Amino acid sequence: MSRLLRTGLNAGDSAPLTVVGGEGVYFHLQDGRRLIDGSNTGGGLGHRHPKMVEAIRKAADTPVVNEGWTWIGREKAAEDLIDTAFKGEEDWVGAVRFCISGSEANDMALSLCQALTQKTALATRERAYHGLVGLSRSMTVQPHWHGGLAVHAGGTRRPAPMVDVKILPAPDGAIYGASPNNRPAREYLADATATLADTAATIIDYTQGGIYYDGDYQDEVARRAAEAGSYWIADEVVTGAGRSGRWFAFQGAQSRPDIVTMGKSLGGGAASVAAVVVSKAIVEQLKGKSWQNYGTLRGHPISMAAVSAYLEAVTEENILAHVREMEALFARRLVEIARRHPSVKRVAGQGLHWTVELHGPDWRAWAADTTENPIASRVATRAMEVGAVIGTSGEQTSLFLAPPLIISEAESEALLEALDHGLQLADEEFASSNGSH
Ligand SMILES: Cc1ncc(COP(=O)(O)O)c(C=O)c1O
Repeated sequence: MSRLLRTGLNAGDSAPLTVVGGEGVYFHLQDGRRLIDGSNTGGGLGHRHPKMVEAIRKAADTPVVNEGWTWIGREKAAEDLIDTAFKGEEDWVGAVRFCISGSEANDMALSLCQALTQKTALATRERAYHGLVGLSRSMTVQPHWHGGLAVHAGGTRRPAPMVDVKILPAPDGAIYGASPNNRPAREYLADATATLADTAATIIDYTQGGIYYDGDYQDEVARRAAEAGSYWIADEVVTGAGRSGRWFAFQGAQSRPDIVTMGKSLGGGAASVAAVVVSKAIVEQLKGKSWQNYGTLRGHPISMAAVSAYLEAVTEENILAHVREMEALFARRLVEIARRHPSVKRVAGQGLHWTVELHGPDWRAWAADTTENPIASRVATRAMEVGAVIGTSGEQTSLFLAPPLIISEAESEALLEALDHGLQLADEEFASSNGSH
């Protein structure tokens, strides 16, 4: 019996896997199988990328420097991040503070906005996930992730929210199964200025809950937030550092955020590292003040070496252009697959982050772990039989494809075939549940 308190990325317990190794896009399992790692937002360069392994080896031979002391490698990582990932953004980009996780980055950014504005309320959009630490937990408005307890027999026991959270309508953004009356953002955000009026910050991410944006949505949220005096935080924890096929998803629109948060891939999968990047205007606001937010292990020498190595590898290996090529392949093949599977309700995505949503219970009623494994988890188990691990992020009807950014065309096809195979199970159940009505 394991002494670990279990955390399941896929709801239920239908997909047991014990990883003992990995190489490139593959997981090596204890039972000898090699499976494509199809949902790995934390590992942009896949497993044991030689440049990352080398950087971490070297970094093991460094002193122990906590965030309170200046470390030369941290200064370098900050310069590398701004010079590489924010190239062309010099007009507005100000400064960076590193931390350990995406949740922490969001909590830091949100509390900074509360301090700057002296307001408490915060805003996000429907179906958002921003993490499970501090204020980021309050901003996670998906019903199945709340930081509390999902009672298997039914119901939840949640911790109390920390702040008043305003929720904006979300865009659709589907390339298959889009809502037929998809209105322009300026129409359904018509009341947004009033909604955001007493908020310190408006945080939006670009993928969670299967919601992806076009530039209009971002620009409209940015305009409304500015009108309301609410800082706009772009949560690029998933999309930042390359997954969107650009350094950042926000670069697909005209507007520029007050704050960007990032994490996950930023350390190339080799270290736990995240960052808060603030605009020049915020740097100005901070003059004459010190931001009293500190963490012992933040900006650790090993994490900083990982950031510098990751940025270099993405640039040298032309990873962003590769992600854009794979984006076209995934978009084309996923629509083809969806057309053949009646159980698929919707497909949406960007870069190397895709969501396949099945028909099933409405997301507003999701309860995380239940006694019966949800359909998405069962499809994932079926897909695993033919060679790929696909995550559901605890959603009952969604499958998330987010492979390492280095995935080749042949490996992408193999991942999509595994999905195709898994979806047969969903079709069988969809047909029998339709027949019984
Ligand atoms: C959009 C978004 N923001 C924040 C987070 C939290 O990041 P972490 O799990 O590193 O704390 C996640 C994690 O999935 C995320 O998807």
